[in-house]
Amino acid sequence: MSDLQKRRAGEAAALRVEAGMIVGLGTGSTAAWFVKALAARNLPNLRCVPTSEATADLARELGLPLVTLEDVSRIDLTVDGADEIGPGLALIKGGGAALLREKLVWEASSTCLVIADAAKVVPHLGAFPLPIEVVAFGYKTTGARISDVLTDHDVAFPGRFRVADRGMVRTDGGNVIYDAKCGVIHDPARLADDLKLVTGVVEHGLFLDLADEAIIGTDAGVETRLP
Ligand code: A5P
Repeated sequence: MSDLQKRRAGEAAALRVEAGMIVGLGTGSTAAWFVKALAARNLPNLRCVPTSEATADLARELGLPLVTLEDVSRIDLTVDGADEIGPGLALIKGGGAALLREKLVWEASSTCLVIADAAKVVPHLGAFPLPIEVVAFGYKTTGARISDVLTDHDVAFPGRFRVADRGMVRTDGGNVIYDAKCGVIHDPARLADDLKLVTGVVEHGLFLDLADEAIIGTDAGVETRLP
């Protein structure tokens, strides 16, 4: 059912795109539905900026014209998924390890649309482990300093670096991911600031004051939300 909700959200978002736009393409299973629906519209003169190699591969396969963030000065509209959508459309992103490129693309966009299934909407952020992108060099000492920051934010759970079948997960930029099991993030803005001050932290998955609108897929159709 959640896949149908993701598809509905992605397809509704694709209708927001107009011919000639520069479009940011998000990463993840929901964003993939958007990319497919956008390609099916066959709009003329689009230029698309992918937020990951995985999305670039999909978009290329579907014939969407790709450019990089270096090729454009501004993006008209970015559509991307999220791991959690909290009050004010504060988000946790990065479950797919693409948070750095995603945030760079979001911040270069005039409008950011988040798309998700209904289960992503939460009363407060933190149940989904917060992804933090860390430079691989000295990652263990960086992890210890992240842990200190989290303790200062009343996080009692140990975080861990993300591993997959073939060892530590690497982002498209070659960094590693620390997943911080927060439970509840009491002050997302202060945590965002404090994490940015840790040397070795490249970016974190808190996307605050960035989403302009959410399109949530439901069993009945879609719902829109504003911050
Ligand atoms: C990618 O790094 C993430 O930010 C995704 O957008 C997020 O994990 C949502 O993914 P799904 O759409 O697959 O749930």
